[in-house]
This record gives sequence, C-alpha cells and structure tokens, in this order.
Amino acid sequence: MRRLMAETRIHPAQLVLPMFVAEGLTEPRPIGSMPGQVQHTLDSAAQEVERAVEAGVGGIMLFGVPQEKDAVGSGATEPDGILNRATAFLAERFGDATVVQTDLCLDEFTDHGHCGVLAADGSVDNDATLERYAAMAIAQAEAGSQILGLSGMMDGQVERVRAALDDAGHVDTAILAYSAKYATALYGPFREAVDSSLTGDRKTYQQDPANRREGLREALLDIAEGADIVMVKPASLYLDVLADVAAASDVPVWAYQVSGEYAMVEAAAANGWIDRDRMIAESLTSIVRAGADVVLTYWAIEQAQLLGTMG
Ligand code: PBG
Repeated sequence: MRRLMAETRIHPAQLVLPMFVAEGLTEPRPIGSMPGQVQHTLDSAAQEVERAVEAGVGGIMLFGVPQEKDAVGSGATEPDGILNRATAFLAERFGDATVVQTDLCLDEFTDHGHCGVLAADGSVDNDATLERYAAMAIAQAEAGSQILGLSGMMDGQVERVRAALDDAGHVDTAILAYSAKYATALYGPFREAVDSSLTGDRKTYQQDPANRREGLREALLDIAEGADIVMVKPASLYLDVLADVAAASDVPVWAYQVSGEYAMVEAAAANGWIDRDRMIAESLTSIVRAGADVVLTYWAIEQAQLLGTMG
C-alpha cells in the first residue's frame, strides 16, 4: 500500500554524478573528507562514467583539478587544460550514452582560489570575470560539454555566457545556472576535493543563508537572462528555497546535494550512529519532494543501481 500511494518517486535519469578529474595523477587519489569519492585520472574517470551509464544515471558533471594555478585561471580556458581535456576525452567516448556537463567557474584554476579574477584592491572583479567565463564557455562547448554549470555567482553571468555561445555558433549548448547558491559551511569537503587554495570566504558573491526571498529573486533573474535550468545549492538545508523556485520556475529546477551533505552522512554511518542507506534514500526523496527535477549527488551511481533493482 505504501508503495502504491507514494507521492514521490525517483528515477535513475534524475540523478547526475559530480566527478573530479585531476591533472598529473597516475592513479586515482581518495578524497579523505569524502569517503568513497576520488580525484580521477582520465582512465579511472572513463571507468566510472561507464558504471554511471550502466546504472542509468542521467548525466555527469565534471570538475577539473589542475597542477598549475595562476591569478586569472589560465588552465580553465586552455584547450589542453585538465577540465577541457577530460571533457573532450569523455564526451567522445560517452557523449551518445549520457550527458557530459562541466562546472564553469574559475576557483579550481586560480591561485587565490576565488571564483573570479581580482581587482587591484583584492576584491573580486565581477565584470572582468564575465569575460573569463565567456572564454571558458567557448572552450568547454568546443570540448563537447552539453550543459555548462555556471557556479561562480557573478551578476550577469548567464546573459554574458549565452551571448558568447551564440556568437560562436554553440546555440545548442545549454546553461545550468547555479542561481540560488548559498555561502555555506557545507562546501568544506569540496575544497579538499579540488585542492582549493582559498583563504577567506565567498560572502561577497554567494548568498546569505538567512535570505529566502533573495534565492527566488536570483533564480528569476537567471531565467530572464536565458538560463535553461536553474539550481538551488546546497539542497537539504535549503528545501524552502527549492520549493519556492520550483513553484515559480518555467524551466527545470535542479538541486545539488553537496560535499558536506555527503560527508556528514558517511561520517555518522561509519561510526554506526545512523542508518546510511535509509539516510541517503530519505534525503534524496525529500529533495525531489520539495521540487527538484534532477539532483546532483555523489551517491548517483549507487542510488541508480538500487532503484534499478527495485524496478
Ligand atoms: C565552485 C563550486 C563549488 C562547489 C561546486 N562548484 C565550491 C564553492 O562554491 O565554494 C561545491 C560542491 C560541493 O561542495 O559538493 N566551482
């Protein structure tokens, strides 16, 4: 009876797997704060994508971890930069079987660790950053990314990137706007995952956890600028914002179950303090119940496999 009456169901195609590909590795490197997750080599990434495809996962989201960083994040726009190289490698092999997506942000590539380039006074220069994002978008589209995940939270980034893509003929490349992206403690483990060099915080461009209306406003602005998909991030602590955006949006609404959400469950479960499998299922069900059409989750493959066996 419970199964028959369930109001919320999750399909494997609704799950997207975020993955880290690092430059200069000879074998995958475990991420200590994210048990079960690794920085991939190109080869191990390909094996993981194959598993994702077999499990029926809807897509993969790639993050690059470069060896060299500089003030403007040069590695982000070079065609042989690690993220663009990994995208080309995986899109060529799996582009027909799944949707290869990329994170479009400078923080993994800058030596100061910020999501944009800096002005002389050390603040993040919004408009100069937009030009870097435009170049990054073209590099990623040319590498074969089908959806660009704009996660840098610069004002006007969707409009600028859409224009750059259209001018370059990449009219079919879609934009996923990380619209309501909060400055949260939950990104902690991710900083280890990408060897982040950030000191300080992102409070001048990411949103204040205290603000609910502002989350919806950011999503509506991104839709007006041409976003094909809007996202709320993190997921579990922001279900009110997610429900607001889902009610008002006329484009798909995604949510990102971030590294800290993953790490908290894995850590408690490793101590025997919580039922891991029930926590994962309940958290994903709640995110979808609140209105997410798709969830980015580090548990994507495992959950898709489980859903597959349950029919
Ligand atoms: C920015 C970006 C971040 C995450 C995804 N894209 C880090 C940040 O904004 O500080 C975090 C994802 C996670 O914690 O799982 N490139």
